Amino acid sequence: MSGAAPGGVLTFGEGLMKLALPPAQRLEELGNLRAECAGSELNVAAALRTLGRPAAWVSGLPGGPLGDWVRAHVRALDVQDLSLERPGRLGTFYLEDHHPPRPSRAVYDREGTAFQALTAADLNGSWLGGRSALHVSGISLALGPGPRALALALVGAARERGAVVSFDVNHRRLLLPDHAAADTYGPAAQRADLTFVAERDAELFGGAEGLRALNPQAQIIVTRGARGSETHLPGGEVITQDAFPTAGPGRVGRGDAFAGGYLHAYLDGGSPREALRFAAACAALKTTLPGDQLRASEAELRAVQAGSETDEPRR
Ligand SMILES: Nc1ncnc2c1ncn2[C@@H]1O[C@H](COP(=O)(O)OP(=O)(O)O)[C@@H](O)[C@H]1O
Ligand SMILES: [Mg+2]
Repeated sequence: MSGAAPGGVLTFGEGLMKLALPPAQRLEELGNLRAECAGSELNVAAALRTLGRPAAWVSGLPGGPLGDWVRAHVRALDVQDLSLERPGRLGTFYLEDHHPPRPSRAVYDREGTAFQALTAADLNGSWLGGRSALHVSGISLALGPGPRALALALVGAARERGAVVSFDVNHRRLLLPDHAAADTYGPAAQRADLTFVAERDAELFGGAEGLRALNPQAQIIVTRGARGSETHLPGGEVITQDAFPTAGPGRVGRGDAFAGGYLHAYLDGGSPREALRFAAACAALKTTLPGDQLRASEAELRAVQAGSETDEPRR
């Protein structure tokens, strides 16, 4: 697979080692941990791949076995690895994942990472060559001046080339205080063609109207958890989509599967209504399987979107 094949997407973001506690254990009682390769923008690339679209990922990784461990995961996802080796460590976090109403909790340990050593000078013009779109998220904007500058340089380069710019605000309160959100994420939101934002995070900009004031042209996609999603079109029209009923262990990465699904449908020429429905089906299927990355077949996606009766096994 060549990531630079027509229709391909470049994503940029940090790769992390997620150290997950066994179900129903709390951080204070931490014992066994399971290591998994994580990262929102890598998840988006993986979603695009499972949907059949070429995808590549730019990041900064340490040399040595931990960097190699991430690279092996990226290869297994069939995502083209464009990551650079940099001094520093691999970011990690501990995750205590619960079913609602008990909140899940994360503790980050991601200071001094190789990703934070990236700068705008690392921008390589060939990364975007032949690609249809770039996807970045607010996480990279919040992680420090180097990654922030490189993310914004990529957005500028994508726009110059006429590639679609997809931006997921993905606000992380443990990385950035709410009061800094609008200033930190604003420059990307201003220049995106698609802006994804959870309803709770949209408030930080004054709602969808606030995001619209920053960018008159973008499709602004507001996700509302179990209450579904909506696309705010430039003309003021709002398209809504219910969430599909779902359950399972895979709630982490659901927003990334949603964004990947929407971007895929958008690049296929789908209308906002079609893209929203497809994205909601991706998010629903993501939830049913463990791991952070979407795995879904066309038949499964069709069945969910058709609202088919899936309680009965196919046999
Ligand atoms: N409890 C749920 N049941 C069904 N679908 C859900 C549920 N929570 C989220 N989704 C789907 O995932 C999409 C994104 O979820 P959301 O929680 O808003 O984003 P994020 O995970 O990025 O915070 C929703 O618009 C919806 O389609
Ligand atoms: Mg999200």
